[in-house]
Amino acid sequence: MKVLVIGGGAREHALCRSLSLDPDVNALYCAPGNAGIAEVAELHPVDALNGTAVARLAAELGVDLVVVGPEGPLVAGVADSVRAAGILCFGPSAAAAQLEGSKAFAKDVMAAAGVPTARSHVCTTPEEVDAALDAFGAPYVVKDDGLAAGKGVVVTEDLAAARAHALSCSRVVIEEYLDGPEVSLFAITDGVTVLPLQPAQDFKRALDGDEGPNTGGMGAYSPLPWADPKLVDEVMELVLQPTVDELRRRGTPFAGLLYAGLAITGRGTRVIEFNARFGDPETQVVLARLQTPLAGVLLRAAQGTLDTEPPLRWSEEAAVTVVVASHNYPETPRTGDPIEGLAEVAAEDGPDAYVLHAGTRREGAAVVSAGGRVLSVTATGSDLAQAREKAYKAVARIRLDGSQHRTDIAAKAAGLR
Ligand code: AMP
Ligand code: GLY
Repeated sequence: MKVLVIGGGAREHALCRSLSLDPDVNALYCAPGNAGIAEVAELHPVDALNGTAVARLAAELGVDLVVVGPEGPLVAGVADSVRAAGILCFGPSAAAAQLEGSKAFAKDVMAAAGVPTARSHVCTTPEEVDAALDAFGAPYVVKDDGLAAGKGVVVTEDLAAARAHALSCSRVVIEEYLDGPEVSLFAITDGVTVLPLQPAQDFKRALDGDEGPNTGGMGAYSPLPWADPKLVDEVMELVLQPTVDELRRRGTPFAGLLYAGLAITGRGTRVIEFNARFGDPETQVVLARLQTPLAGVLLRAAQGTLDTEPPLRWSEEAAVTVVVASHNYPETPRTGDPIEGLAEVAAEDGPDAYVLHAGTRREGAAVVSAGGRVLSVTATGSDLAQAREKAYKAVARIRLDGSQHRTDIAAKAAGLR
């Protein structure tokens, strides 16, 4: 099988790594990719938001399957363009990707499907904003309606800050605060059959102890030793299958990766958000534990034959990933700094610990930072404590001027604090 992956972050590096290890994949391409992905896939430049350009590249390469990684291209209709060219694509249509593209749309789907989520108001005027903030009280949860790379959400006790963020958005969702640990659960679906993956936990805040601003995600781990063993079945029944059924009923079936961001509250499991693609950095730890070869599963989801897929096989091992971010992330990050120590990790820590690249590019012989999140250092071990130790040992070998990372990824789940 020939596969083209669209995107160039650590999630796409994780996808390409798994696909490169799949014996059914005999050619692997990535566009635009990054310096790390270049080691496992042939890179091609492309404007990932341009469906015509992506479809043309897929046709030129003669691929059997296109896998679209990020939400931007999905919301822009890139999967529709690829399918219109007669090429199989893993990733939802623009219409179905509105589940991520518009928080108000997602709320509407959840209401229709009876999916438990925070009570909310969609506001477009200052009067509506004030009424909603007053109705829910602190802590305030204020979400820009559109795509914002995980940074459009403000959760704060400060009414003035909540109000200022709300007024800076043209359409805003204000909702009830959900208290409880968060879980990311992904499912692969062809629009009818839903195949859940293993749950992971993401660390959204920039600083240790869940302090600082929201980011795209600073680390993740899987499995979740503290979670109810029935969690996946429960979320399948209450969230994933009803949502997939509702989108099919509307005539906009969702085929691709459905990401449920959940809060485990005292009153039950609630959806915080949906995404229409693999999460980053959770994918790094989920795929590290997936033993079933990936390409066939993605192909069958794209073909609409997921009902023929046997249950997925998972490793008993635990996985941890730690994100190394640039100076000043998540504000305007500094880029162009050389990254050293990558060869040492490969030589000393492999194969259980490895570096997945996010924002990197090659500059002559050097690899330099090219984005906010730069690397996602991933490791597996017999339990979380061991996976964590291996991941942090590898992180310690990386040298990137001004870089930052959290030191407490998976610490609590590993029983260390
Ligand atoms: P989202 O982009 O919707 O995932 O929001 C980003 C982060 O904000 C989530 O991962 C949560 O940590 C936090 N958040 C979002 N909605 C809520 C809520 N209703 N209650 C508490 N925290 C929330
Ligand atoms: N890690 C959060 C996300 O991918 O949206």
